[in-house]
Amino acid sequence: MENFKKKILVTGGAGFIGSHVIRRLLRNYPNYLIVNADKLTYAGNLENLSDVDSLPNYRFEKIDIVDTESVKSVFSKYGITDVIHLAAESHVDRSIEGPMEFVMTNVVGTVNLLQGARENWNGDTNHVFHHVSTDEVYGSLGDEGLFTEETSYDPRSPYSASKASSDHFVMAYFHTYGLPIKMSNCSNNYGSHHFPEKLIPLMIHNIQHKKPLPVYGKGDNIRDWLWVEDHASAIDAIFHNGRIGESYNVGGLNEWTNLELVRFLCRLMDEKLGRVEGESEELITYVKDRAGHDKRYAIDAIKLEKELGWKPSITFEEGLSKTVDWYLENQNWIEKVTSGSYKDYYENMYANR
Ligand code: NAD
Ligand code: TYD
Repeated sequence: MENFKKKILVTGGAGFIGSHVIRRLLRNYPNYLIVNADKLTYAGNLENLSDVDSLPNYRFEKIDIVDTESVKSVFSKYGITDVIHLAAESHVDRSIEGPMEFVMTNVVGTVNLLQGARENWNGDTNHVFHHVSTDEVYGSLGDEGLFTEETSYDPRSPYSASKASSDHFVMAYFHTYGLPIKMSNCSNNYGSHHFPEKLIPLMIHNIQHKKPLPVYGKGDNIRDWLWVEDHASAIDAIFHNGRIGESYNVGGLNEWTNLELVRFLCRLMDEKLGRVEGESEELITYVKDRAGHDKRYAIDAIKLEKELGWKPSITFEEGLSKTVDWYLENQNWIEKVTSGSYKDYYENMYANR
């Protein structure tokens, strides 16, 4: 264990983005020990790492980051040198139904980790605590403009309020205690291993099975989509080369209204599934809008590009095509991750709309 160059605690590594981050770190840095700390909520599945979990530099700890003692013990057990913190409750609709879980994991859990790092690193700044956050902390844009790192925080959903609070604690630990933090705020991700309650994997699943495609409101809300592996490469770049105490926006200048995006997916899947063009679009069903639905998100990632030379590696069309192929080829994955409590949640949610 002593021979590893870094011993990185990755929280939430069994989730969507965390599993891509872990896969990248394990493959690119065999001299790092990667400790995945995850509670395995409905959104966390070790299945997401089945292709890399036998690598010699991987360890898994099933812990709840809200539990102070578990966090402390994982730091001391491995002599953790760095943290990449992704564990969170991440779904806006769930945060509207029940905000407290979001406060506990996203706020209290983050402060527990900050405190664990502070106690173990003891003023030594030769470490990194990288906090992974979202552009949703900036609130909602009108027709014009982009979120920059200087945009004032204006969170509007319980999810974004909890993430904004965690971001503030991260910055407070930097300013107050000199904890060596870095932060990234990314736009909406898409790709493989994405839990099918979020827009893109849900639509892919429903198109395939000819189920209704629930578009909230008029479908004119805008999101800025980034391929998850490009987010993982940005985290890698920021973790290694970003400046301490700084936040970096991550995004690919790729704005779509929800309706345009769903229509695009329908056309792509009609082609892949050998259906008549237009067949899947008939499944589009307008449902009651999300409460407090943020109108538009769009990221200016120029700081990341200028300072660290990061750029997205593929176009949305390529990324979406790869993503659809992955879901079509991995039916078992969908079945595994949606068995259990998710089924009830999903059925209740749409029954109530
Ligand atoms: P996810 O919901 O797919 O995964 C979250 C993971 O955290 C799961 O493995 C879950 O088991 C784990 N977890 C939850 N509560 C925990 C707890 N109390 N203790 C330990 N583990 C716990 O989320 P994601 O989409 O992969 O997002 C990862 C991070 O990236 C989050 O912090 C999120 O805010 C941020 N982010 C997500 C997006 C996006 O588009 N998905 C965009 C920007 C930022
Ligand atoms: P989502 O994937 O939940 O991400 P976020 O809310 O964090 O941006 O939703 C993306 C957009 O898609 C958002 O504007 C809400 C909308 N949406 C639908 O129209 N229908 C759906 O079934 C879902 C899950 C989302």
